[in-house]
Amino acid sequence: MVVLDGEIGNYVISGNKKYSYFAGNNYLGLATHPEIKDAAVRAVKKYGTGFSASRQTTGTSWLHLELEKELSLFKQKDDSVIFASGYLGNRILMEVLQDRYASVFIDQDSHPSIIFGIPAGKSDIFRYNHCDTADLESKLKENNRGMPLIITDGVFALTGEIAPLDKIYDLATGYNGILIVDDAHSTGILGETGRGTPEHFGLDGAKGIWQSETMSKALGSYGGFISSDSVLTGQIRESSAIYQASTSLPPAVVAAGTASLKIIRENPGFRTELTEKARFLRNGIISLGFHTCRGITPIIPIFEDGHESAGNLSAFLEQHGIIVPVINYPGLKSNFMLRITVSVLHEYQQIEKLLDILHDWKNRY
Ligand SMILES: Cc1ncc(COP(=O)(O)O)c(C=O)c1O
Repeated sequence: MVVLDGEIGNYVISGNKKYSYFAGNNYLGLATHPEIKDAAVRAVKKYGTGFSASRQTTGTSWLHLELEKELSLFKQKDDSVIFASGYLGNRILMEVLQDRYASVFIDQDSHPSIIFGIPAGKSDIFRYNHCDTADLESKLKENNRGMPLIITDGVFALTGEIAPLDKIYDLATGYNGILIVDDAHSTGILGETGRGTPEHFGLDGAKGIWQSETMSKALGSYGGFISSDSVLTGQIRESSAIYQASTSLPPAVVAAGTASLKIIRENPGFRTELTEKARFLRNGIISLGFHTCRGITPIIPIFEDGHESAGNLSAFLEQHGIIVPVINYPGLKSNFMLRITVSVLHEYQQIEKLLDILHDWKNRY
């Protein structure tokens, strides 16, 4: 495990050593952006470190209200609601929408927060093959009893693949169902204005889609949010135990979220630059002959044949001053892979150095 001794930039310090850092999810470099850090510090000076109460009681500040307003502007929705973590967003959505669906269809490689999010009363749960809309359709056809909910990651956290949301949405509407997209890795990244996977597919504002989003990745802060029509956000505020019975987000985090939305709005070029850098690295990795996934996102996996060779490659990179983790979450069939992430902060010479070391590895093993 890497123990960090400072900020997560394109380099990190760990154990008194400086490493080139191709890990984490600080895609737009906002977790270390000076204006965002300043906003967080100012908030702590004014409000302290926490509000020690739930939003429903005495835990709402002007900072929370301002962030919800800014999120709604960013998402072009009536309203937004923020809560303790992105992980909880799928659960909140599946609970508040539960009268609108009878069965649940999940991509088999869904993030654990999706599986955790299914309400206890729902027993008709079907897993379709990863990103396979033909399999999804046949499962919808076979199990056509009541309205379906389809739920998928927008961008898959480990492989960076984008779910075929256009086709999934067609199936959802064709079967009178609804769709939830976990856009943890798409918010701020995909779509012309960074509104996520629906925007990428021209589905922004389409009926029957809800996004579960987080401020912990591209937005460089922390906390989950859902932007929607005010009927749904009202329902969350009135009936979600997760929303009502947890302490409100701390001042530093909320102020950082608001500051980050301003930076995202004012710097659309960050996304283009990120995409270019990711393209450069992905093309290099493909031409070296590694097994990876094609695409446009800043998440680039390298699949190895076994856990040992994945670990050896990660250790080899580390010996050469580069951090790229092997992913080993419980229950995921991904522990043979390294997960490389690109940030807008990376310099091209740093990416070239990574490619050189990967080339050395290929020559040796
Ligand atoms: C796809 C996906 N959904 C949800 C989450 C949870 O988000 P957060 O860490 O902001 O709670 C993550 C983060 O790891 C994720 O990768």
